[in-house]
This record gives sequence, C-alpha cells and structure tokens, in this order.
Amino acid sequence: MTSILSPRAAGKCAVVTGAAGGLGAASARMLARHGAKVFITDIHGDAVAAVAEEINREHGATVAWSAAQDVSDEAAWQRTLADAVKVMGALSVLVNNAGVGSLGGVERIELKEWHRVMGVNVDSVMLGCKHALPYLRDAQPASIVNISSLAAFKTDPDYTAYNTSKAAVASLTKSVAMDCTRQKIDVRCNSIHPAFIRTGIVKPFFDKLGEEEATRKLVRGIPMHRLGEPDDVAYAVLYLASDESRYVTAAELVIDGGSRAV
Ligand SMILES: NC(=O)c1ccc[n+]([C@@H]2O[C@H](COP(=O)([O-])OP(=O)(O)OC[C@H]3O[C@@H](n4cnc5c(N)ncnc54)[C@H](O)[C@@H]3O)[C@@H](O)[C@H]2O)c1
Repeated sequence: MTSILSPRAAGKCAVVTGAAGGLGAASARMLARHGAKVFITDIHGDAVAAVAEEINREHGATVAWSAAQDVSDEAAWQRTLADAVKVMGALSVLVNNAGVGSLGGVERIELKEWHRVMGVNVDSVMLGCKHALPYLRDAQPASIVNISSLAAFKTDPDYTAYNTSKAAVASLTKSVAMDCTRQKIDVRCNSIHPAFIRTGIVKPFFDKLGEEEATRKLVRGIPMHRLGEPDDVAYAVLYLASDESRYVTAAELVIDGGSRAV
C-alpha cells in the first residue's frame, strides 16, 4: 500500500483498451496523472498514438506507450500484452474498456452484427483476462477493471445485442474474480456500469436527434438531471486500479446519477 502522500496509482503499470478517445483516453490520462505507466491501445492506431504523445508531453517524460490492437483478436492480445510488459516492466492493471454500440430489436438484428458486438464487447474481455492473468499474477496486488454499462441491468428493446453483451461482461467479471480468489492470488476483478456519458459511442444519437432533443431524451431517466463526464468514470477506474480498493472484488460499481434507483 502506498502512503497517503504518494500518487494514488504510483508504481502501477496499466493496459487500457479503446483509449483513442472517450472513457479510455480519460482513464489513461487519470492513471498517468496519478503516477501509473500506461500502455494504451485502440483499433485506431494513429489516434491512440496521439493520446499517448499528449500524455507524455503533459508529464515531460515517457509514461505512456501505444499500439494498434483489435480486442476481438486473440493473437493481437498476446502480442499487445507481451509488448506492454516489455516496455513497462510489468502489468498490474488491465482496463477492458473498448466497446461498440449497436441498435436493433431482436427481430431486426443480423447475426453478423450480433457476432460483431459480442466479439468487441465480450470476447475481448474474456481474452484480455485470460492472457493478462499470468502477468498480473506476477505483479500482485493487481486489478482488472471491466467497463460494462448500466445497460447490463436496465434493458431497452432497441439495444438487444448491447444489453446482452454488457450483462455478459458483468457475469464474466464475477467469474474471473472468483477464479482469482480460488487460486488465492491478489488479483481483483470488478466492473463499472456508467449511464450516458458524452463520448463517441453516443454521438450517433446526438447526430440523429440534434443537441437539444438528444440531451432532453437522455437526461429524462437520470435523477441528477445531467449526463456524466468521462472523468466521472475515470475516477472510478483510478479507485479500482489502485490499492485503495484492495478489499473490493466482484463488485459492480454503478456511475449513473442515480438512474438505477428509479
Ligand atoms: N459513453 C457512454 O455513455 C457509455 C455508457 C456505458 C458504457 N460505456 C462503455 O464504455 C466503453 C468506452 O466507450 P466510450 O463511451 O468511450 O465510446 P468511444 O466510442 O468514444 O470509445 C470506444 C473506443 O473503442 C474503440 N474500439 C472499437 N472497436 C474496437 C476493437 N475491435 N478493438 C479495439 N478498440 C476498439 C474505438 O475505436 C473507440 O476509441 C465501452 O465499452 C462502452 O460500451 C459507455
């Protein structure tokens, strides 16, 4: 455990997926600001490299590295994690953040689209956990943070694949957490469940309805009457990545302005 005066994530070496923008980039910046090294990846290699450069400029040192990675590809996971450990020296935090949205009720969804969503949102988390665990075991206390969604608990008939994928991430998280406790290793695994946060994933909704109408619709079910900010999630990632959460595993951390209560 670091002292109260140490940066909250000092000494941590984190891989964050889907970090070209949105919640992944915010989480990577937050972890770096609090003393972690970060290896950030995205399917968009150039965009994630720009985020790493920006983090390094801010810190005046090399604390961030980047790579292009398709999180649904098993071989890419093996390469990415080996590269991350080579440059950072260890892997003590994995943030499974990359994800895609998908619109369509059960009678409209194409099987190809269903498989795409499951590949990026669910296979990715399983593959990440599977291939990171050998490294995390060597870097205890270690932590896996899976970005699920409030959509794991609250369903919408137009988001069949997305709802299902995020519920799968919640279940997978607990399964991995219990596997670690069974092995008596200090590797925790928790999921985060945000409601609407203004990022690329909700952009199509804003593009379709316009700023005012989209905001009105999204805010309607949120008791705190506003959307979340990327840093609202990044602070949760920081807590779960750091040793401050050392007694927390298999938890579902909801970041939703009170939405789940209504
Ligand atoms: N923004 C929200 O309202 C919200 C709410 C709940 C959960 N989430 C979840 O948060 C996570 C981050 O999403 P965001 O809101 O930052 O959206 P975003 O679209 O800004 O970020 C998602 C990132 O994942 C990357 N990505 C997509 N497919 C990939 C693949 N195959 N391999 C690697 N990277 C890939 C994208 O390029 C993008 O940079 C997602 O898992 C999303 O489901 C978002």
